[in-house]
Amino acid sequence: MMLRAKTFVAGLLILILATACSSETVVLSPDGSIELQFKLVNDQPFYQVKKDGAVLVTDSQLGFEIQNQSAIRDNLQIIDVQQSTFDETWSQPWGEVKNIRNHYNGLVVTLQEKSNLQRIVKLNFRVFDDGLGFRYEFPEQENLKDFVITNELTAFNMWSDLKAWWIPAYGDEIDSEFLFSQNNLSEIGQKVHTPFTMEAGDSLFVSIHEAALVDYAGMTLNPVGKELKCDLVPWSTGEKVKTSAPMKTPWRTIQIAKSAGDLITSYLVLNLNEPNKLQDLGYVKPEKYNGIWWGMHLNKYTWKKGPNHGAASPVVKQYIDFAAANGLSGVLVEGWNEGWDYDWSLGRFNFTTPYPDFDLADLSQYAQEHNVGLIGHHETGGNIENYESQLPEAFAFYQKHGVHSVKTGYVTRQPSGEFHQGQYMVRHYQRVVEMAAAHQIALDIHEPVKATGLRRTYPNLMTREGARGTEYEAWSAGNPPEHTVILPFTRCLAGPLDYTPGIFDILIEERPENRVHTTLAKQLALYVTIYSPLQMAADLPENYEGQPAFQFIRDVPTDWEETRVLNAKIGDYLTIVRKDRNSDDWYLGSATDEQAKELSIDLGFLLPNRKYQAEIYADAADADMESNPTAIEITSSTVTATDQLELKLAPGGGQAIRFHLLE
Ligand code: NOJ
Ligand code: CA
Repeated sequence: MMLRAKTFVAGLLILILATACSSETVVLSPDGSIELQFKLVNDQPFYQVKKDGAVLVTDSQLGFEIQNQSAIRDNLQIIDVQQSTFDETWSQPWGEVKNIRNHYNGLVVTLQEKSNLQRIVKLNFRVFDDGLGFRYEFPEQENLKDFVITNELTAFNMWSDLKAWWIPAYGDEIDSEFLFSQNNLSEIGQKVHTPFTMEAGDSLFVSIHEAALVDYAGMTLNPVGKELKCDLVPWSTGEKVKTSAPMKTPWRTIQIAKSAGDLITSYLVLNLNEPNKLQDLGYVKPEKYNGIWWGMHLNKYTWKKGPNHGAASPVVKQYIDFAAANGLSGVLVEGWNEGWDYDWSLGRFNFTTPYPDFDLADLSQYAQEHNVGLIGHHETGGNIENYESQLPEAFAFYQKHGVHSVKTGYVTRQPSGEFHQGQYMVRHYQRVVEMAAAHQIALDIHEPVKATGLRRTYPNLMTREGARGTEYEAWSAGNPPEHTVILPFTRCLAGPLDYTPGIFDILIEERPENRVHTTLAKQLALYVTIYSPLQMAADLPENYEGQPAFQFIRDVPTDWEETRVLNAKIGDYLTIVRKDRNSDDWYLGSATDEQAKELSIDLGFLLPNRKYQAEIYADAADADMESNPTAIEITSSTVTATDQLELKLAPGGGQAIRFHLLE
């Protein structure tokens, strides 16, 4: 996996200024553009971040409040400073890019209280060219054994009242499935989820998130003026984190970019995670899938048993036939098991007892004969106790039947009152990832804990929801066109998103009161603009019949060697090109909000002096998301790397292109 030898050279390229009075320590990013300063002020820890010499995060507090002890914040002294440089290039087994450079300058400052408990905490900073991460580490020590964090004091004190895109942090029921609002920091007035993305004019973009969230509470942010205070999601009983030393917190991350597109191609969150821990990854396969799914959201089928049961074997076979004929290698089946007839949160789901009209052994064999894999489903209804009591059997059952990926679901907050992003649930999701890996099963988690790059360590953790996805188009006011041009700069910075694109029946014949808020061409563009290694062709098979535009879904890969953002404006438009891992073909997705857009793009990403067939799926001249959403024009022309293309996107529209290398 390691393409270039690691170097770990203490003391290189790092500027340390330790003065007796202010105890300041400075670390620069490898290219020198980002400066992290750590200091003690009145014996309390603070950090500051500069970009190109200008302050970006002004003096910001660090520390903790601990149950039944004094805060770890005061009366501190520096007892050790370690510096390092690290540079490696590693390969993702699957991903939006193959090779990733992990290059940073590191600083570990060890702090100890001067008196009383003399507790010790280390601050571990890594400064990259595209931002920084830092975490707290508590070594084993006399006066800190088992302890409860009641508040993490980390703050991000932004230098000005920046414009930001946000969703609420957590509520009673729904988590993460919101439309974004855009406000200046001082106007937000409520806790927000991360990734939390801010913009300062056209040339500075900052996003705050976290990496490697394991056995800790998820971090939300509480904006107070220009300051964002870490606000950990609590247990139902109010504590934030129950832990014991030695321990390490997740990394707090600040991605910094000169263009919105550079946020998308920043892999800092992945770099801060541990390398792959799994041995055999043969079963972990990026793929496209269809499934017994949209039909339930449209009320054509039911999850529960009855005359319109979706998961009945004959229906599943139709979907397998369709997948096999159209280059989709997975078929998801929801509603196959006992329990859907009751309130989902009651914990009546049984994960090894199929409904009588669903024959898993027969269907697995049928699928195998058609070179298709079934994608299993565990809807927990948020009842963790019920799910965990069946966990090993639930995964063993699928493994026995040759099922190698499972979608899980956590609709509603569990009866015990634990939040999706709290430590209780973080532990649960982790248990499931490890259990799935032990049974050679990959995961697609709906209503998940947020992604924090753990897919690097556990590549079977392939994709997840954690956003307001296509399902909302079926039964709510839907997702306005700007939603999908905000997600790539916010939620998607965390990791892959199972948005479930590909609805062709835009006006949804089955539900006249609902509709999809894009043109048909934009549905195609989403396969490129929203990255997921598992991508659904979400519509009913009959809606793809006789549709030439479906060819793009047949062709588009789900595993990429390279990703480039050609143009981007958060909330307005973006164009992404990605290179297939298994061929020399490139794919383009371009999407706009409710405004029509004309974009000129340079094809310099193609191989020089070679000819490509550009298969273009564009909004027709008279296309309009409101009045004429399915008008699509499919054309083909020969292009080279020196050409420019003019993309014309309709209101709510998009464009998708396959660039196929001609021999
Ligand atoms: C919500 C999920 O997001 C959706 O995909 C699924 O169909 C339902 N829960 C039922 O599990
Ligand atoms: Ca959902």
